[in-house]
Amino acid sequence: MIKKFIFGTVLTGILFSCNTNKTPQLGKSSIDDVVKAMTLEEKAKLLIGTGMDLSVLGDSAVVGETDLYVQGAAGTTYPIPRLGIPTIVVADGPAGLRIAPLREGTTDTYYCTAFPVATLLASTWNTDLVESVGKAMGNEVLEYGVDILLAPALNTQRNPLCGRNFEYYSEDPVVSGKIAAAMVRGIQSNGVGTSIKHFAANNQETNRMGNDSRISQRALREIYLKGYEIAVKESDPWTVMTSYNYINGTYSSESKELLQTILRDEWGFKGIVMTDWFGGKNAASQVIAGNDLLMPGSKKQCQNIIDAVNDGSLPIEAVDTNVKRILNLILESPRYKGYAYTDKPDLKAHAEVSRQSATEGIILLKNNNTTLPLIDPVKSVAPFGITSYDFIAGGTGSGDVNRAYTVSLTEGLKNAGYQLNTDLVALYDKYISEENEKNKSNPVNPLLNFLPKKRLAEFIPSAASLKNAAASADVALITIGRTSGEFIDRKLPNDYELSENEQKLIREVTGAFHAVNKRVVVILNIGGVVETASWKNTPDAILLAWQLGQEGGNSVADVLSGKVNPSGKLPMTFPVKYTDVASSANFPQDNALDLDINSILGLNKDPDRELVRNVDYTNYEEDIFVGYRYFDSFGKQVSYPFGYGLSYTTFELSNPTVKEENGAFTLTVDVKNTGSFAGKEVVQLYVSAPVIPAYSKPEKELKAFAKTKELQPNETQTITLTVTAADLASFDPNASAWVTDSGKYLFLLGTSSKDIKVSVDTTINKKLEVKTNNVLSLQSPINILKR
Ligand code: BGC
Repeated sequence: MIKKFIFGTVLTGILFSCNTNKTPQLGKSSIDDVVKAMTLEEKAKLLIGTGMDLSVLGDSAVVGETDLYVQGAAGTTYPIPRLGIPTIVVADGPAGLRIAPLREGTTDTYYCTAFPVATLLASTWNTDLVESVGKAMGNEVLEYGVDILLAPALNTQRNPLCGRNFEYYSEDPVVSGKIAAAMVRGIQSNGVGTSIKHFAANNQETNRMGNDSRISQRALREIYLKGYEIAVKESDPWTVMTSYNYINGTYSSESKELLQTILRDEWGFKGIVMTDWFGGKNAASQVIAGNDLLMPGSKKQCQNIIDAVNDGSLPIEAVDTNVKRILNLILESPRYKGYAYTDKPDLKAHAEVSRQSATEGIILLKNNNTTLPLIDPVKSVAPFGITSYDFIAGGTGSGDVNRAYTVSLTEGLKNAGYQLNTDLVALYDKYISEENEKNKSNPVNPLLNFLPKKRLAEFIPSAASLKNAAASADVALITIGRTSGEFIDRKLPNDYELSENEQKLIREVTGAFHAVNKRVVVILNIGGVVETASWKNTPDAILLAWQLGQEGGNSVADVLSGKVNPSGKLPMTFPVKYTDVASSANFPQDNALDLDINSILGLNKDPDRELVRNVDYTNYEEDIFVGYRYFDSFGKQVSYPFGYGLSYTTFELSNPTVKEENGAFTLTVDVKNTGSFAGKEVVQLYVSAPVIPAYSKPEKELKAFAKTKELQPNETQTITLTVTAADLASFDPNASAWVTDSGKYLFLLGTSSKDIKVSVDTTINKKLEVKTNNVLSLQSPINILKR
C-alpha cells in the first residue's frame, strides 16, 4: 500500500505535470495540482465526512448521504466531481460487514456473513486461519461496494466488564497485535482497506466520549499501544480510527503526540487517521494533530475548519497535508478504480469459513471422564437453557452483522444426527413463545435497538420433567448465554455472575442426570468473561463456545461430536473472583445509561461539576499488571489461566533449543501428539527477564506463539519461534527508551501461562537501548502498582 501510494503519486506527477490548462483531475493530474485547485470549502468538506442522519439512529440501518451509495454503511467521504474526486464508503465492523440487508424498491437482499466475534478468533491462536477469515470478510466488503471496513478492533481487554470486549482480541498485546495484523492482511488482500480501532486506550464504555484514561507512559507503551504498533508494522492498515476518550488529558483525536510523534514518526504509519463517530471536540485541533478525517462529519466542523484557517489558528499547510493523505487513500479505493461490484458475494462459501473458523476458537475448559466427545452410544440429547434454542451469534451495536440466519444449538445438534428430547424441547418452545408474546407489547425506545436485548429469565423445568429427561436422554447440555455491546459496560449480578436461576438449573440438571449415571455439559455462549469458580465443579464438562457467528449451532455440534477436536486457548484470564482483577478497583460499576442522544454524544455535561472517578477519569493504577501479568506476578489463584484450553488428545513438548544470531533468538521445540485423537496444539513462548531493581518486571510475558498443524496420534512437529532482543525490552520512562537489560533471560515454552512444559535460557551481555520520544505523560501522578 505504502509503496503503491508513492509509486502512484510519482507516476501521475510525471505523466500529467503538463496538464495545467484544464481543471486538474484526481489521478490524471498530480496530487499537488489537485490540492492547489481546491477551494478552502472543498478542502474542509473533504476533511469531514458527509454526515449522518441522527433521526433514524433507532433503525438497524444508519442512513444519511451514505444511502446514496451503500445503504446502512457507517459513512462516506465528500465527492468533488469537478476534480474527479469520488466518494468512498466505509462500513462496520469486526465480525463482518454491517450494511442494511433489505432495500426499498427491490426484492434483492444484502445479507452479510456473521463471522465469529473477535475474541473467538483470538482464541484460535491461529494467524493463518484469521487471515483466511479476513480474506472472506474483505471479499464481502469489495462485492457490496464498500471501500473500507471499520475493523479490526484491538483494544486491550483490561477488565472483564467492558461491554465491547467481544469485539476485542485479548488482555495481551502480542496476541492482539498478531491476530489483528493477520486480519488486516486478509481483508486488505481484496484491495479494500481496514481501520484498526479504537486508537487508543478505549477500555470502558461508560462515558466513553468524556472519560480520561490516565495511564503511565510505560503501561501505554507496553500494553495499550503495543498491539497497534505490531499491527501497523506487520500489516500496513490503510487507516487508523482514533478512540473517543482522552489519554492523559488530551482527546486521542486531538493528540499530535499520539498521531504524529508515535504513530507516524516512530512507527512509520503512512495511511490516514479518522475519528470514531462524533469523537473529539475541536475540529481545528484534530486537523493539526493529524486526524485527517472527521467522521461522520457535521456542518459545524466544516465551518470550524474554515474559520480557523481564516483567523490564522489553523495553518493551511496542516489542512493540505491531511487533504493529500485522503486523496492518496481515495486513489487506492475500489470505487476510484471503478470496480464493478456484484452485490453477490459467495455467501455459501463464506458460511463455511464462518463455521470452520468458529470450531477452532472453541475452548474446552473441563472434560472429566472423557464426557466429550459425544460418541456412540450417546445418541439422544437433552438441551437445557433458553440460549440452546436462541443461540447468540455476536454482540450488539456497530459490532453486529445483519445476517440472514443464526443456527441454534438445537438445529446444529439435529444436523449432526443427534435426537433431541422432544418433551423438553416442547417445554422450552412453549416458555419462550409465551415470554416473547408478553414482552412484545412493551414500547421500545428506538435507541434501545442499539443496545443489548434483555434476555429472558432462565427457565427451570419441574422436578418431574428433569427426571423424565434424565431417564430418556443420554446426556444433558446446558447453554448459558450473554450478550453485550456498545455504549454500556456489563454488570456483576446476572451478567458477569450467573443468575440464581442459572446456578439452580446447573445444580438441578446435574443432580437429576448424575442420579441415573448420566453426564452434564455446560456450553458458554458468551462474549466476555463470566464467573466460573463457584459452579465449575458441578457439571462434567464445560465448553467455552464464545459467540460463534451465524453457523454457531453447527460449529458447536462439530466439536461435541468429535468431528473437530477443540484447540482453542484462552486469550484472557478467568479469575476466581471479580475483585481479584487488578483493574477492578478502577473500573465503573454503576453504569446506568441515560438514554438521551445528547448524553450518548457527550453534549450536555455541566463543565463545572466535580469530576467523578471511573466516569470522567479512570486511573490505571494496576499499570502494566493487566491480566496474567498481574495474577502470575502476584501469586494469585485463577479459575482458568491465560492460554489455557484442553483437547480430546494430549501433547508433549520436548527438546527445546535456542540459537542467537544478529540479535535474534530462534527457538525450536518438538510437539508430539501422545493421545489417540488427531489435534492441534498451541505453543506459547513466555519470557522471564532479569530482575531490575529500578523498575518492576512481570514474572513472565508472552513474546511469541504458534499453532501446530493437525497432528495425528504419535506424530511430531518441530515448531520454530523467533524473537529479537528488542522484543525483550521494557519501557523505561526515565530514559524514554525501550531497554533490554543485560542478564539471564528464561525462555519458557508452555501451553498456558500456568503450564510451562520446557525452558531454555540465554544471557544478554550488553544492554540494548532504543530511544523514543518523551510524550503522552501523565498530567498529575497516580498510584502505580509495583511488584
Ligand atoms: C463505534 C465504532 C464504529 C462507528 C461507526 C462508533 O459508535 O465506536 O466502532 O466503527 O460507530 O459505526
